[in-house]
Amino acid sequence: MVQLPQSLLWDHNAHYHSWLLRKLPQRSARALDVGCGTGAFARELAERAEHVDAVDVSPEMIERASGAPASNVRWLCGDLLDLSLDASGYDAVTAISSLHHMPLRPALRRLAELVRPGGTLAVVGHYRKQTPTDFALDAVTLPANAAVGAYKAARGRAGKPHDEGMPVKDPANTLLEIRTAAAEILPGAVVHRRLFWRYTLLWRNTHH
Ligand SMILES: C[S@@+](CC[C@H](N)C(=O)[O-])C[C@H]1O[C@@H](n2cnc3c(N)ncnc32)[C@H](O)[C@@H]1O
Repeated sequence: MVQLPQSLLWDHNAHYHSWLLRKLPQRSARALDVGCGTGAFARELAERAEHVDAVDVSPEMIERASGAPASNVRWLCGDLLDLSLDASGYDAVTAISSLHHMPLRPALRRLAELVRPGGTLAVVGHYRKQTPTDFALDAVTLPANAAVGAYKAARGRAGKPHDEGMPVKDPANTLLEIRTAAAEILPGAVVHRRLFWRYTLLWRNTHH
């Protein structure tokens, strides 16, 4: 991939925060952010939820995230798949750029059981490129990436890519595999391919 100069880099995960916030309840009692990293999104959630649990398996990320005060956020270090969390579940569950760090089906099952009836799961994730469409999209994404970087730079907002100390991983699953697993485990989930190398998944737990 053509690497943009540092001055034009920007954070593709943060770009999707506004999508997440639009899809989540305006106010909720309990929210969970999975793979919270340095905690930026958990803090945004904390402005809309009475209580936020923010989980990350990396002690370093939790240490850094918990460094800035946020009275209604509980920072929890552990693996989503075996951490003991509130059994009554959450009204809003989010996972930004973290699902591909875990085995897909067990992680989707775990996320599903953590969403309260009536609650929402919103994921921004990565997929492994496989199809001609996946690769062809770069003809649009690469110039768009540079254009957004230039636009932000002109406003003094570029040059801030995702944190370099954050754990990253290449995604193992293709978009088709993700759609198939989501259809099995989260009936009614809506999965969309997004421009900047990501997909979004939205699921509402309609069980009563
Ligand atoms: C690429 S970072 C994204 C961080 C943050 N959500 C953001 O958008 O900036 C992925 C995060 O997921 C965390 N993670 C990976 N596997 C995890 C697991 N099994 N349980 C909880 N967190 C996990 C990593 O430690 C890392 O901080």
